[in-house]
Amino acid sequence: MTKLIIAIIVAIGPLASAQAASGDIARGQQDFRACAQCHSLEPNRNMTGPSLAGLWGRKAGSLPSFERYSDALKSSGIIWDERSLDAWLTDPQKMVPDNDMPFQGIRDARVRADLLAFLKEASKPGAPPLLAQQGGMKGMGGMGGMMGGMMGGGRDVNLKNLDSSQHVKAIAYCRDTYRVTTADGKTRAFWERNLRFKTDSSEDGPEKGEPAIMPAGMSGDRASVIFAAPDEFNKMIEAKC
Ligand code: HEC
Repeated sequence: MTKLIIAIIVAIGPLASAQAASGDIARGQQDFRACAQCHSLEPNRNMTGPSLAGLWGRKAGSLPSFERYSDALKSSGIIWDERSLDAWLTDPQKMVPDNDMPFQGIRDARVRADLLAFLKEASKPGAPPLLAQQGGMKGMGGMGGMMGGMMGGGRDVNLKNLDSSQHVKAIAYCRDTYRVTTADGKTRAFWERNLRFKTDSSEDGPEKGEPAIMPAGMSGDRASVIFAAPDEFNKMIEAKC
């Protein structure tokens, strides 16, 4: 009898763990789009959230290049693995109260298993290109899907290699209106509430003194001007009518 029970445990043990690990990587790659607006899988490419490259075995809140961790996450003592990530993705606020990840959580255990299967592979050093290739072969959304899954989706264009129509030469401010002149000689007027000023200090940001203008929103009346550093705001924007 004892022998029989042991035999059953031995038979079921590996089966159970195989099942826990049997998330579907391809589906997980699709599901990762929900994360990709905030997380990349490239080392140290941080966006709203920290890069998830090398996540397994990492201490929560410990990536040195990420500046915006909450105290809650930093002091949580969590080490990331299947179990801790499953709890985090189920309900981040329940696992680490007062953390800063603006994400509701995923109630569906199947979706979490798929996502973790993908993430475990894709966060390994050197793994993403391989997965991207598989994704492409299975026709998972072509380049768009591939880039969305692998490159973080939110990876922004490099602002150094833009067309002259996006290369800002001058900004004039008059009453409630900004007039933005670009390197192609054109000037566009914006209502002041429709123009945003941003900075990008990363390697994808613009050259010093050469801000870029990027369309924002669907209706064409809004845009962002992105500078290399905030001290350029006042230098570039001239109050004149
Ligand atoms: C709207 C932005 C946003 C979305 C969407 C988002 N995250 Fe996050 N994530 C963050 C931020 C910000 C943090 C840092 C939280 C803190 O410091 O409290 C974070 C932290 C994390 C961490 C901890 C990393 C570390 O270095 O300790 C993991 C793991 C994580 N997110 C995974 C995910 C996954 C997987 C998804 C998709 C299911 C996702 N996140 C969706 C913004 C986001």
